[in-house]
Amino acid sequence: MQSPFPTLFKTAAAAASILIMNACSPASEDNAGQPEPQTGDGDSNAIAKADFGETKAGEATEIYTLTNKNGLVAKVTTYGATLVELHLPDKDGNLVDVINGFDNVAGYEGDGNQYFGCTTGRVCNRIAKGKFTLDGEEYTLATNNEPNHLHGGGDKALSKQVWKAEPSAEAQAVTFSLTSPDGEEGYPGNLSMKVTYTLTDENELRIDYEATTDKATPVNLTNHAYFNLGGAGSGTILSHELTLNADNYTATDDTLIPTGKIEPVADTALDFRKAHVIGERIPDKEAKETADCETSTLGYDHNFVVNGEAGTMRLAARLKDPASGRVMEIHTDQPGIQFYSGNFLMEQEGKGGKKYPFRGALCLETQHFPDSVNHEDFPSTILKPGDTYSTTTVHRFSAE
Ligand code: BGC
Repeated sequence: MQSPFPTLFKTAAAAASILIMNACSPASEDNAGQPEPQTGDGDSNAIAKADFGETKAGEATEIYTLTNKNGLVAKVTTYGATLVELHLPDKDGNLVDVINGFDNVAGYEGDGNQYFGCTTGRVCNRIAKGKFTLDGEEYTLATNNEPNHLHGGGDKALSKQVWKAEPSAEAQAVTFSLTSPDGEEGYPGNLSMKVTYTLTDENELRIDYEATTDKATPVNLTNHAYFNLGGAGSGTILSHELTLNADNYTATDDTLIPTGKIEPVADTALDFRKAHVIGERIPDKEAKETADCETSTLGYDHNFVVNGEAGTMRLAARLKDPASGRVMEIHTDQPGIQFYSGNFLMEQEGKGGKKYPFRGALCLETQHFPDSVNHEDFPSTILKPGDTYSTTTVHRFSAE
């Protein structure tokens, strides 16, 4: 039988946002933890800072805690400018951490880390065969997801670097900055980046990205958080309901590289224009383990073309966990959103000893289309000297 899916990811060897809640005080606290405030005693806006451990290379890392007036908590670390924790209330006000992650930097440097919560780039998603030509010069990148380049490459991908943090004095916000030198991971240009996480009192997690370069270079930054609105490590996301504001998706070959065709989602398992339960149209775990299913039925791993004008903020996705009532809306100015249903999660152990099973969490990564640098008719990812790359994604949380 032909799969209801258009082409999906073939090899199992893949390397592996802000919310509107009811303005209520949480009925109970989970173990969000209270690190020492970083600035003066009695400063109600103080952003707590704590040690997150040393990298294998001996670099110190830090974790910052953002808290809003409704008790929501987001924690971010300098390692990979990564979102580590996100504590959201359910319909009764109970807070739970909904993000996959690790307790310290050693976990993030370990084999279980599949880009959990990180800032992904310089170019997220795939570049075909790790090659592109720009201004007459051919560039070769790491093919770390054979035969393609994935999520910025090897040891110097942005997700594996220690960023500099600057907590805000006015808002529950931290800005991370990093300059990636010319030639790093094969990319041209000295690229200076800033990523700001802001937790607002409107129950939003806002992520603002900025970058400048001294030589034309492709840039496509996203956040790779894995969400389970029932609580990270609490089972699968198969009963979550997803709506995607997308009439079309970018069709791919079996290595997940776009063919160049923009196809309608109508009459396919990719049609999320009305809410659908995620598990409704993908096979169960047993089916996935048969040889047949290693290819096109592994799950969702697709780039959707967000309706409306790229460059303007609009709704891209709405996710609801019916059991807890937690809802996340994602608004973005990006042209696309990759929906990945956690097909390569492997029961790895994360924060507090929790296990992350197959399809135990999902990613909704706002971004430019995969392999844009090799597709002239896709919205361009080329940043030129003198221009500023600037993009925003807002995750809005509520419960119902
Ligand atoms: C990709 C998946 C990949 C995963 C790695 C997602 O963004 O679309 O194919 O396996 O990242 O964690």
